[in-house]
Amino acid sequence: MQIKELKARGIKNSRKEAAIEVIINKKYSASAPSGASTGTHEVRSFPKKGIRYAIEKVNKYNFKELKFEKFKDLEILDAYIKSWGGNTVVALQSAILKAMAKGNVWKFLNPKAKVLPTPLGNCIGGGAHTKLESIDIQEFLLIPKAKTFKEKVKINRKVYDMIGKQLKLKKKTDEGAFISNESTITTLKFMTEYMEQIKKTKGWDVSLGVDIAASQFYKKGKYNYRNFWENEKRIVSRKEQINIVNNWIKDYNLKYVEDPLEEEDFRGFAKLNQKTLICGDDLITTNIDRFKKAITKKAVNAIIIKPNQIGSLVKTKELVDFARKNRIKTIISHRSGETMDPIISHLAVAWKIPYIKTGIYGKEREIKLQELIKIERQIKA
Ligand code: PGA
Ligand code: ZN
Repeated sequence: MQIKELKARGIKNSRKEAAIEVIINKKYSASAPSGASTGTHEVRSFPKKGIRYAIEKVNKYNFKELKFEKFKDLEILDAYIKSWGGNTVVALQSAILKAMAKGNVWKFLNPKAKVLPTPLGNCIGGGAHTKLESIDIQEFLLIPKAKTFKEKVKINRKVYDMIGKQLKLKKKTDEGAFISNESTITTLKFMTEYMEQIKKTKGWDVSLGVDIAASQFYKKGKYNYRNFWENEKRIVSRKEQINIVNNWIKDYNLKYVEDPLEEEDFRGFAKLNQKTLICGDDLITTNIDRFKKAITKKAVNAIIIKPNQIGSLVKTKELVDFARKNRIKTIISHRSGETMDPIISHLAVAWKIPYIKTGIYGKEREIKLQELIKIERQIKA
């Protein structure tokens, strides 16, 4: 593939923050998202000198001399993660990958792929996605069962709309989930009962998951709940938090629990009920060294994959392969500050990633779901 022209420019993400977009040969464009509940161990999105500096560097660089024919050729750009920022390198690699693939990335990477991921849909939210002014848990996630991806998306959206109507919720988080002012326990109870009810009345099989993002309310060695139950503030120790989460898994039938403890507590993670999916996001930050540590300590059986946390698609792929070898489930994920780029949908299919977390509502989330519906059609045909 010949790069005749490569141009970087500034755009805004869904949170109106500055983001980078790369356009190749006036045809293939890509961009990278940003997080709010960012883990301490993520790479920098942009260099200290700022996004403008990164854009300038990219626009001055001579890409015409580089050869890009296969996925592994993108690796040469990993050398710039530090100086240009992880978001810059991910946007560059994504744009080049799209150009190599002539737009159809999943097929270019893995023409034999035929399994679609299951969407984890953020239905009710709080935590850092509401500037810590609402519910303590960051995300209440819907995990639907159905024959096709399209059906799963439909079920998630219907349940989301029904819940919004029933609870009379209007305001939304950064990720398009409903903001509720109820307590954590009230919401867990409501959601569990609602899932039972829709199974009876509609025949829809939807499981409940949560992203607790516990680092966000962990202060001075304690977990500080603003509204644990009926407006009660509760400050709990590490040991209590472990018990609380294990009880929630049982009482509310949680099938997926992300970051239930703060981002350094590998040993605490290992004490959680691993019959359910115990997932590390801030704990691991898509970082291979932290992932190896988590495996050694038996901390997780699932891992969130966010390419811009590690700043490279090539390194992301290595991590996905490593997870598969170690029988750890992968969940590729959007960020709270998203763009219209649907490349994670293609990577999910090509790399046989079993879950995708993209949100249910909002154009930046829905474009990723629609892309997967399109891919499902292509695979069937
Ligand atoms: P972030 O949140 O994109 O703001 O980091 C998403 C998550 O924690 O999963
Ligand atoms: Zn998370």
